[in-house]
Amino acid sequence: MKAPDLPPYSYTPRPYTGPSAEEVLALRKEFLNPALSLFYRKPMMIVEGKGQYLFDEKGRRYLDGFAGIATVSVGHCHPDVVAAANLQNETLQHATTIYLHPNIATYARDLAAKLPGDLKVCYFVNSGSEANDLAILMARAYSGNYDVLALQNAYHGGNASGMALSALSTWKFNVPHSFGVHHVIPPYPYRGRYGHDDPNAGRAYADEVRQVIDYATSGRVAAFIAESIQGVGGTVVFPEGYLKHVYEHVHTAGGVCIADEVQTGFGRTGETYWGFEGHGVMPDIVTMAKGIGNGVPLAAVVTTPQVAKSLAERIHFNTFGGNPVSCAQGRAVLQVIEREKLQQNALQIGNLLLAGFDRLAKKHNLIGEVRGKGLMLGIELVKDRVTKAPAKEECAQVHETARDLGLLLGKGGLFANTLRIKPPLCLTRQDAEFLIDVLDTAFSAA
Ligand SMILES: Cc1ncc(COP(=O)(O)O)c(C=O)c1O
Repeated sequence: MKAPDLPPYSYTPRPYTGPSAEEVLALRKEFLNPALSLFYRKPMMIVEGKGQYLFDEKGRRYLDGFAGIATVSVGHCHPDVVAAANLQNETLQHATTIYLHPNIATYARDLAAKLPGDLKVCYFVNSGSEANDLAILMARAYSGNYDVLALQNAYHGGNASGMALSALSTWKFNVPHSFGVHHVIPPYPYRGRYGHDDPNAGRAYADEVRQVIDYATSGRVAAFIAESIQGVGGTVVFPEGYLKHVYEHVHTAGGVCIADEVQTGFGRTGETYWGFEGHGVMPDIVTMAKGIGNGVPLAAVVTTPQVAKSLAERIHFNTFGGNPVSCAQGRAVLQVIEREKLQQNALQIGNLLLAGFDRLAKKHNLIGEVRGKGLMLGIELVKDRVTKAPAKEECAQVHETARDLGLLLGKGGLFANTLRIKPPLCLTRQDAEFLIDVLDTAFSAA
């Protein structure tokens, strides 16, 4: 198997002098919860990152096709982001929102400017799970209703309310959760009830939401929450019109619509800055995390002044939310996305990748479906194109071979049979060609 050549890159990682991968693995086994799972048969250690590349402890370079799970948006250790964080770290690291500080205010102004309509009021937290938890609280406080609608195949977080909203058995513990949450069938054209050949699929899937409102609730709901493209669920792209029709049903039932942009925000989907804009809808609340901070613990709930007011009925506090260092880093990320035209790059390079994956699909029967937008892409693997039996082992093998060839990817879907491609938004044309060549080789070997 000949390894495709990584595009040249003039950067030399620092010599690594820390503990070996074996020692780190042993420490993890002894001192960290075994729930922290690792990719790859022989787990890899990453000690440095630059741009779209990662380096292991031996100095080997890899193309990062997963970006720390769609999180490193503008590239590893982007100099402007590092400089903003360093400067703030040296000046003031923490104060909390009980005092005035310029960073949280100016950052909120700049972030709000990226959102359409009345979505102008920010609340900063530290993770996507926290953001979704807070969004549901706001929705319930604002609407006076309790029931929440979410989608099967969704992932919204790992805390109690995130788990409640998520609907993938692999992520749900056998403990009481999901009170008041109703999971609606996912608008998943490749596997779902209404396929790509059904021009009314969007409306038909949305009707399922209306039926759940009619039959499973009092007829009044607090919220509907959905990712704009399902991420952990395997890059599932909804049929046209789906969200538009759902939003109408939810608003009629007194609820607010929450767009979970944790993976799809900040230009990742290419055509639009936010994934929901690609569906032509206007949410009442938007949650965001991951790419917002390029790796710093930062997340936000952005909503309208009316909805935001509901939270002021009680005291609500978050110790680290809006931390000056996180806000400095978040603001630098916004500026880099703009200046380096990374949304446009996501669109261009994403289209190159999609075209390349389509070519691979003609050659490799393992590929059931290629889907996604911008640099939020997925390739679903099946054992048989007619039965669509999930090719879990084959997916694991392709994932493993890609790593051997210098490319790191993600996996997802309930059956772990979808390759997830979500690199930093600074991926180049040469990187895309390399990525396609690696997959071609890996599919041939699977
Ligand atoms: C769509 C979506 N929402 C929420 C979350 C939870 O974010 P966090 O892991 O930062 O709590 C994730 C994490 O993968 C996610 O993909």
